[in-house]
Amino acid sequence: MTAKIIDGKQFAENLRGRIAEHVARLKAEHGITPGLAVVIVGEDPASQVYVANKARQTAEVGMASFKHELPADTSEADLLTLVHRLNADPAVHGILVQMPLPKHIDANKIIEAIYPAKDVDCFTPANVGKVQIGLPGPVSCTPLGCLMLLRAELGSLEGKHAVIVGRSNLVGKPMAQLLLRDNCTVTVAHSRTQNLPDVIRQADIVVAAVGRPQMIKGDWIKPGAAVIDVGINRIAAPEKGEGKTRLVGDVDTAAASEVAGAITPVPGGVGPMTIACLLANTVTTASLING
Ligand code: GUN
Repeated sequence: MTAKIIDGKQFAENLRGRIAEHVARLKAEHGITPGLAVVIVGEDPASQVYVANKARQTAEVGMASFKHELPADTSEADLLTLVHRLNADPAVHGILVQMPLPKHIDANKIIEAIYPAKDVDCFTPANVGKVQIGLPGPVSCTPLGCLMLLRAELGSLEGKHAVIVGRSNLVGKPMAQLLLRDNCTVTVAHSRTQNLPDVIRQADIVVAAVGRPQMIKGDWIKPGAAVIDVGINRIAAPEKGEGKTRLVGDVDTAAASEVAGAITPVPGGVGPMTIACLLANTVTTASLING
């Protein structure tokens, strides 16, 4: 079998088109321009690329984009002050503080300071709880993007066995909640899981979010399974020339494609969906804040 390649880039482009229409209606009918504030502390190159993409795409769908670039030695107190200011700013409907933060800043303290109604990452305890009990509000961007791709590919997910590899607060745990809500049987595997290949071989759906390049091998995949690769890892690519690099996921895509029914590529799979879902969450919070 040769897997269907799930085109997250195209899916995200279509989603952004629908978001732009929604933004235009909010402006025309309610006089609301959704605004997203993105905060980055320090100069991590990967984070800078993500934040630049977020700001550009926010503006492209017609929303207001507020970018705050702070030096790496910004104190926790100063970052908290900025978050409080953004909480109080009526032009800002969504606040995203790019992770990871420098080590001297307690990320949980910053997350807890974000007003839940503006928490477009769905990181605050209030919003994590809402997802768990099925109340409306923002939903974690990357897991939401994965869910959209899976529903589009498979239709109903009911009764399918989903194995999530990785238990992070950012992806693994919220992904488990969302798949449970869609009536999957969910297994969360992680670095201490025994016989990981055998666990993954039982999966109708694999969500790989471990951050280890090409760790999941082709012969770990059940024939016909849907494979969602959340990993974005930069590895050396001597075949492209000395010192060159390329992006790969957490799955050995070439080998897994021989076995899977459908698979997301890296890049061009889950990545573009994360930003599109961030924009969708900002429209949601803007609509909810303005009643
Ligand atoms: N760093 C990597 N992914 C994300 C994300 O989705 N949100 C935030 N705030 N930081 C990240």
